[in-house]
Amino acid sequence: MSQVYLNGAFMAPQEAHISPMDRGFLFADGIYEVIPAYNGVLFRFDEHLIRLERSLAEIAIHNPHSREEWRHLCETLIERNGGGNLSVYLQISRGATEKRDHAFPNPPVAPTVFMMTGAIAIPAADSPDTASGSKAITLDDIRWARCDIKSISLLPNSLLRQQAVEAGASEAILLRDGFVTEGSASNVFVVIADTIITPPKSHAILGGITRDLVVELCRSHHIPIEEREIPENQLRQADEIWVTSSTKEIVPIIQLNNAPVGDGKPGQVWKKVARHYVNFKRRLCGQDQE
Ligand code: PDD
Repeated sequence: MSQVYLNGAFMAPQEAHISPMDRGFLFADGIYEVIPAYNGVLFRFDEHLIRLERSLAEIAIHNPHSREEWRHLCETLIERNGGGNLSVYLQISRGATEKRDHAFPNPPVAPTVFMMTGAIAIPAADSPDTASGSKAITLDDIRWARCDIKSISLLPNSLLRQQAVEAGASEAILLRDGFVTEGSASNVFVVIADTIITPPKSHAILGGITRDLVVELCRSHHIPIEEREIPENQLRQADEIWVTSSTKEIVPIIQLNNAPVGDGKPGQVWKKVARHYVNFKRRLCGQDQE
């Protein structure tokens, strides 16, 4: 049976109870992380923890644990859920107060820490030669001005993803003022004339851990990559489009708004980068991913 972690104890999910006065529930006042583990080995843990520390600092929630304590909690949770390939969802809210007040509690209350695991489906990048790719649509980016904070306030992302699903697609690629920002739960890459382009990090996007690793791998393998703005017309004319995230890795988009991207199949540049990604992952976490 699966186990979750809540405020100091491991338990069955149905035993985990959180107060309705929790500011996470009332105000979506909290942040989260999703950290993948392969063969039970946490992948890019330090990078995820650095982002977690930054998100907490940006919204002034005290970090209740050291990095080593977080690692221990994540590893214990993975072990208690059978190891293998799992993602760890980790959420910290500002805690439960006696009365509802928009301003922070003063003095502060103990933050609420909740963690659970989820299964990771076998990513497309694991089999570049047989991957079929996914569909996406474009939508206006209706989110707030601090998308760099990994906030649990995901209503706009959720509405956007739902619109994509209802249109028969798996992701919404978001446009703000005529430029690509990111996906509803992913970062975006395009390939134009053999150069890979991804929007630069700013307050408009989440600094994705997978995004950063893709940039790093391309640079170390001398594959041309640029971090610059992508105007809408370049997105529409791109030879390849990919979206990246910790749970899906690098996904080739083969249809945008019902029109084929390139030749409508996962592209050659994607295949090359996917192979580097998988090799990197296997070096860190071992071969046996399935
Ligand atoms: N989401 N942008 C947004 C808005 C995201 O929600 C995510 C990931 C990313 C990719 O970040 P990373 O490579 O660090 O996973 C970009 C997670 C997986 C989620 O909400 O479940």
